[in-house]
Amino acid sequence: MKRFFSALLVLTALLACFSLTGMAEPVEVHGPRPADVSTIISVADVPLITLNNGVQVPQLGLGTQIQSLERDNGAADRELLNNTSHDAVVAALQAGYRHLDTAHGYFNERGVGQGIIDSGMPRAEIWVTSKLWPSEYGEGVTLAAIDAMLERLQLDYLDCIYLHHPAGDYVGAWKDLEKAYRQGKVRALGISNFDNWMDAFNAIVDDMEIKPQIMQIEGHPFAQRLETRTLAEKYGIQVECWYPLGHADDRLLSNDVLSAIAEAHNKSVVQIILRWHMQEGLVAVPGSTNPAHIQENIEIFDFELTDDEMVQIRALDRGEAGRYFNIDYQRMGGFFTTLNE
Ligand SMILES: NC(=O)c1ccc[n+]([C@@H]2O[C@H](COP(=O)([O-])OP(=O)(O)OC[C@H]3O[C@@H](n4cnc5c(N)ncnc54)[C@H](OP(=O)(O)O)[C@@H]3O)[C@@H](O)[C@H]2O)c1
Repeated sequence: MKRFFSALLVLTALLACFSLTGMAEPVEVHGPRPADVSTIISVADVPLITLNNGVQVPQLGLGTQIQSLERDNGAADRELLNNTSHDAVVAALQAGYRHLDTAHGYFNERGVGQGIIDSGMPRAEIWVTSKLWPSEYGEGVTLAAIDAMLERLQLDYLDCIYLHHPAGDYVGAWKDLEKAYRQGKVRALGISNFDNWMDAFNAIVDDMEIKPQIMQIEGHPFAQRLETRTLAEKYGIQVECWYPLGHADDRLLSNDVLSAIAEAHNKSVVQIILRWHMQEGLVAVPGSTNPAHIQENIEIFDFELTDDEMVQIRALDRGEAGRYFNIDYQRMGGFFTTLNE
């Protein structure tokens, strides 16, 4: 009888284990995991947003892509790109930013990682995001790509890893992301540009064990993405905006409505746009390599847009027509070359 009960106990424990992992192949974790050291707190009044797994992300971050320096005619080009990214990261961390957005596809992870080290800020206090390229998708392939990513960044965990584009074997990639998540190599999982390919969006949110915590899409006053935001909300996914300043398009930055609101608050149009993102509950990662702009962009927590001003800005939405960059994944056949990095 005693033997029967101990066998029953073992069986129950095994069943509990399987239900926790959803019958997935167990990933062994010994001792504290790399990400367990994270101690993100609000700095410079930047609010923290709690994701669907309880992890908190600073609502404003620095976008580090520098498209104008991405040409590659040799080592000097890459060095300039990485040095410029490095300096922007140091300036941002000194200004109080604790959220950095990079990607393998930006060719600057080494500069970003070195910037974190040279800033002297404790790594555990910073939210660091990077993105996997489609040529790195696939079970087995993606886990190795995550280790290579960590090496380029000189980190032992990331706060968020995105699948950069809905192309290739994103399902296989997600399975590896789930393993990395359980191993404590990443604290949150994200999908980027999956709003442009609903089959891929559904495959991840409906069928995978760990749902995305965050979703990166283009978002600014001319393209407010209401439909995608409603969809994300339904699944408890936080929306984060790329091109929050419309990539500095003059039509947006010199818009009359935004200029009048800026004047009323003695702020710049850029500050009004970013404040709008904050009040809409969106995470935003404005890009800049100019220390004065980096400082200006975080000085948005000492004023508030009125309800009427929010209504005026919401009226600037041009829907999909307001977007600056829209990839047609079906047309390009999911083709992404391997990165030379
Ligand atoms: N997931 C994706 O597929 C995807 C795609 C695109 C971008 N992203 C991410 O989103 C980030 C933001 O995108 P982005 O940098 O291309 O566009 P953005 O943030 O909309 O605009 C950046 C531009 O605005 C200028 N700017 C910034 N602050 C300013 C200020 N206070 N006054 C005047 N101009 C200002 C910058 O110039 P200065 O350098 O002179 O300040 C730069 O030219 C990227 O860095 C990247 O991390 C993701």
